[in-house]
Amino acid sequence: MKRTKIKYALNAQSPMDEILVKGWVRTKRDNKGFSFVELNDGSCLGNIQTVIDHTPEIEQVLAEVGTGASVAIEGALVESPGKGQKWEIRGTSIELIGEADQETFPLQKKRHSDEFLRSIAHMRPRTNKYGAMFRIRSELAQAVHKFFADKDFFYIHTPIITGSDCEGAGEMFRVTSLEAGSQLPPEEDFFGKPSQLTVSGQLSVEMFSLSLGDCYTFGPTFRAENSNTARHVAEFWMIEPEIVFADLSDDMDLGEEMIKYLVTHILDHCAADVELFAKWVDKSLMPTLETVLKDSFARITYTEAIDILTKTKKKFDFPVEWGMDLQTEHERFLCEEKFKKPVYVYDYPKVIKPFYMRMNDDNKTVAAMDCLVPRIGEIIGGSQREERLAVLINRMDELGLDKEAYWWYLDSRRYGTAPHAGFGMGFERMLMLVTGVANIRDVMPFPRTPNSLEF
Ligand code: 4AD
Ligand code: MG
Repeated sequence: MKRTKIKYALNAQSPMDEILVKGWVRTKRDNKGFSFVELNDGSCLGNIQTVIDHTPEIEQVLAEVGTGASVAIEGALVESPGKGQKWEIRGTSIELIGEADQETFPLQKKRHSDEFLRSIAHMRPRTNKYGAMFRIRSELAQAVHKFFADKDFFYIHTPIITGSDCEGAGEMFRVTSLEAGSQLPPEEDFFGKPSQLTVSGQLSVEMFSLSLGDCYTFGPTFRAENSNTARHVAEFWMIEPEIVFADLSDDMDLGEEMIKYLVTHILDHCAADVELFAKWVDKSLMPTLETVLKDSFARITYTEAIDILTKTKKKFDFPVEWGMDLQTEHERFLCEEKFKKPVYVYDYPKVIKPFYMRMNDDNKTVAAMDCLVPRIGEIIGGSQREERLAVLINRMDELGLDKEAYWWYLDSRRYGTAPHAGFGMGFERMLMLVTGVANIRDVMPFPRTPNSLEF
């Protein structure tokens, strides 16, 4: 018999004479003459209750079955006389597939702290909360691709190993095949020059948007920033669309549409899993998501933002002045207290932004934008790109960049340049938004942070 995923058993339309389920035991209760076994196979939040009458053989198997063991149960799917579930399985046989040592099994029936569960990240998807998290994560990734496919964007696989620095923030991990401690120069290394893990696929995807039209890349990115915050990790996934014959306002439109689409998709497709987070993790999750969906996002210039932040009575840890980068406390104030909804801040000072952003006429600001959302702060960072060759060269000179190394990037402005814009959305930050989870480590299968490379 073919196994039925528990999700389908729980949603059955009618009883089934024969059913086979396989999964991990959440609880087992022995009674006189029969046992209850609650089984979960990860396909959904719910467990299927199975009731198994004792025979000498079955009793022998059940004696070995503890919490966490994997089993196969055959029987009939019948309407449950008990409360709390529509269907249950009348088991006629049980097979122990993999036993679980009860002395050391780390998951108890009680609620565990997130900190503890992080220390057993290999086991935490067996819990309700993290099972729900990683089902949502999977659905969200699929939704990203669907969003772009429906809009005729092409999906580009940009390189992970790179020789160029997109963001210019000096946060790159080096890649080498030389032995540790080797004194050999980069010319002797694998690529014959210094190589790093990418911080962004943008520069590559730009080349494709200037050839195929609207494109996106969605892949892992790496940053060696030594910030131990609840919103930063060394390895994260970024979604980077690039739209052509488009400007900054088109870019902000796309980001807003995408956030609303993804929130709607998750509410529609992961209702039970999201409900868990709304109930146990963040009571304000649903109201927050409603705010995201309801109104259009606020849009203010950086200069207006600084104005608001200097005029408010609120005290910040970081003093506010024109030219500074906004800190999370400022970002959260703007969307949580001032506007009470997502906010775009655009036209940032050029001095705090990378070389590729389009210079504004004031020659002081660039056509950059950040999208800020409640509880998280920056979820999207993007810009219109500098498409004018002379201006771009000028800017690279100002910043002391090696133009030789970016010869191919400059070529795109030499041959059929066109206005284009794009952004990067932190996939994990998007997950934090739809689940209300406050620490980025808890939306990733195996998070990588300073001094932490277990699993
Ligand atoms: O603002 P960032 O640095 O933008 C870029 O990398 C551009 N090249 C994107 C583009 O225009 N194509 O990063 C984009 C987003 C941030 O808004 C944030 O959501 C996320 O990536 N992000 C991080 N997420 C987790 N951990 C980190 N260390 C992150 N750094 C950035
Ligand atoms: Mg940014």
